[in-house]
Amino acid sequence: MTDFDRPAMTAIDFAAIPRERLSALLRRMPKAELHLHIEGSLEPELIFKLAQRNGLSLPYASVEALRAAYAFNDLQSFLDIYYAGAGVLLKEADFFDMAWAYFERAAADNVVHAEIFFDPQTHTARGVPFEPMIVGLEHACRRAHAEFGISAKLIMCFLRHLSEEDAFATLERSLPYRQHFIGVGLDSGERGNPPEKFARVFARCRELGLHLVAHAGEEGPPAYIESALDVLRVERIDHGVRCVESPALVKRLATSRMPLTVCPLSNLKLRVFDTLADHNLGALLDAGLCATVNSDDPAYFGGYINDNFVQTFAALPALGARQAWTLAANSFEASFVDAEHQQRWRAQLDAAFAAG
Ligand code: ADE
Ligand code: ZN
Repeated sequence: MTDFDRPAMTAIDFAAIPRERLSALLRRMPKAELHLHIEGSLEPELIFKLAQRNGLSLPYASVEALRAAYAFNDLQSFLDIYYAGAGVLLKEADFFDMAWAYFERAAADNVVHAEIFFDPQTHTARGVPFEPMIVGLEHACRRAHAEFGISAKLIMCFLRHLSEEDAFATLERSLPYRQHFIGVGLDSGERGNPPEKFARVFARCRELGLHLVAHAGEEGPPAYIESALDVLRVERIDHGVRCVESPALVKRLATSRMPLTVCPLSNLKLRVFDTLADHNLGALLDAGLCATVNSDDPAYFGGYINDNFVQTFAALPALGARQAWTLAANSFEASFVDAEHQQRWRAQLDAAFAAG
């Protein structure tokens, strides 16, 4: 990337955009979503519908009772309910319906590109084969492109609370479907599961030409971000908000333009920050980091990507039109798409801001 291409470079007069137009602009601007767990988009209504279709009973009497259980103290308390919810996914049509429901929401939020996580071990552990899972997701991605013009790619995540051996077995099982995903990630409980545990798996994925990302610095310390970079050699950090505890790390991330896929409503619901007004998104941007805004698990955290943008900007008065534009421009820069597509979306972004 040349200096001319850097997202910070634009001729837009941000000061001329009044604050009352910001929320509409945040919704209308084109954006890429780079941190979305497809299993985390499973709304309670769809969980009940799929349970009924598959003849499964749920330990909740109603959609309302299930939704009422979404009160989390931390990451683990969320993961317990999230893995249980994914238990209704058995057949190709279930995976398709889940992903299609997400794409309908994403299209309404003006998402033009999505790089979507899926957690195969959550399903293979229950005896669901790879084929229906990946075929159902792939089918939804293709239809999203055909109907909404959204370009969508899949990223396969390894569950870090499971063993290296399990991750290698998952990688092996995924290889017949290698052309259907562009990269691998690392998710699930961060504490006590440092990136080093998966050094050899990621090295193999790198040899296979896969893109590499990892959750780090959500609940885990800045040292986990450093080892995701140095040991796993990732190209993006998912969350990464705890980097601010290490000024040297912040400097390193800024200088290298290492993207952080930040998820404000997730951080609020999992108590990484007490309130949205305490969130450090503004500080990350001020430090020159390539931060982006994403929804993580929108069905569980109370909002999709536009809700994340609008609520966070409402809570942080220092965020205005310049930061809105920068976050969208960063999302294209941080994506794994070619320069031509990135430039096309940048032009659409500038046009949205020029129209005010
Ligand atoms: N899996 C789904 N959402 C996650 C998150 N926020 N952190 C770690 N693993 C996850
Ligand atoms: Zn996540």
